[in-house]
Amino acid sequence: MVQKVGHFITFEGGEGTGKSTQCKLLTEFLQRNSYPVTLTREPGGSPGAEEIRNLLVNGDKNRWDSVTEILLFMAARRNHLVTKIWPKVNNGESFIADRYLDSTIAYQGYGYGKNNTIIQQINSIYQQIAGDFQPDLTFILDIDPELGLKRSCLRIGNTEQRFESMDLTFHKNLREGFLELAQKDKRYVVINANQSIETIQSEIQMVVKKRLLDVSN
Ligand code: TYD
Repeated sequence: MVQKVGHFITFEGGEGTGKSTQCKLLTEFLQRNSYPVTLTREPGGSPGAEEIRNLLVNGDKNRWDSVTEILLFMAARRNHLVTKIWPKVNNGESFIADRYLDSTIAYQGYGYGKNNTIIQQINSIYQQIAGDFQPDLTFILDIDPELGLKRSCLRIGNTEQRFESMDLTFHKNLREGFLELAQKDKRYVVINANQSIETIQSEIQMVVKKRLLDVSN
């Protein structure tokens, strides 16, 4: 099994939460402070997984049945772990991932209404592809989905709209999913994403300093 030395921080949330901006700012902050960290994303993050990403985020919303879709996300994840994350995390490098397993649970397991059978399947497949490898810290950027979808539709050059095109109920359900997950473990921190970029980033940095860097200011 993977002997983790570096940290693994994940960012999760619905559409239009500003997740990607916050991941980037945190990565830059840590790098400025000589902390070896790489920013990555899912689905994707490695050449093979990026190829699978194209199959997932483009095209008709009904193009995959639910099991195929989960298997594609998991295949991409396994490739990302094996080729990019694990080799470096063992050498003390840390990673920040823009989405990870909790997105699969929220989108695929809660999006169409909470489905315990699917959630169990996701967790069991994850165990097979990743064993007990888990993030050390997960930020859930939380926003009213109506506001989030409006923001995300305004994003210039956003052509990957397969999941944005799901209806509002889907997005409300997955928000509930993220909030439910957040109550299950101390690794989750929910952040109100309806605040300024600076305020959100400073809340995030405070948590990282306290939980992972062992400094109080
Ligand atoms: P992402 O590039 O993070 O999109 P955005 O910046 O719009 O949030 O993720 C692409 C889409 O894939 C996004 O709509 C969420 C979806 N997704 C899942 O449905 N399941 C998953 O496991 C992951 C990682 C993403």
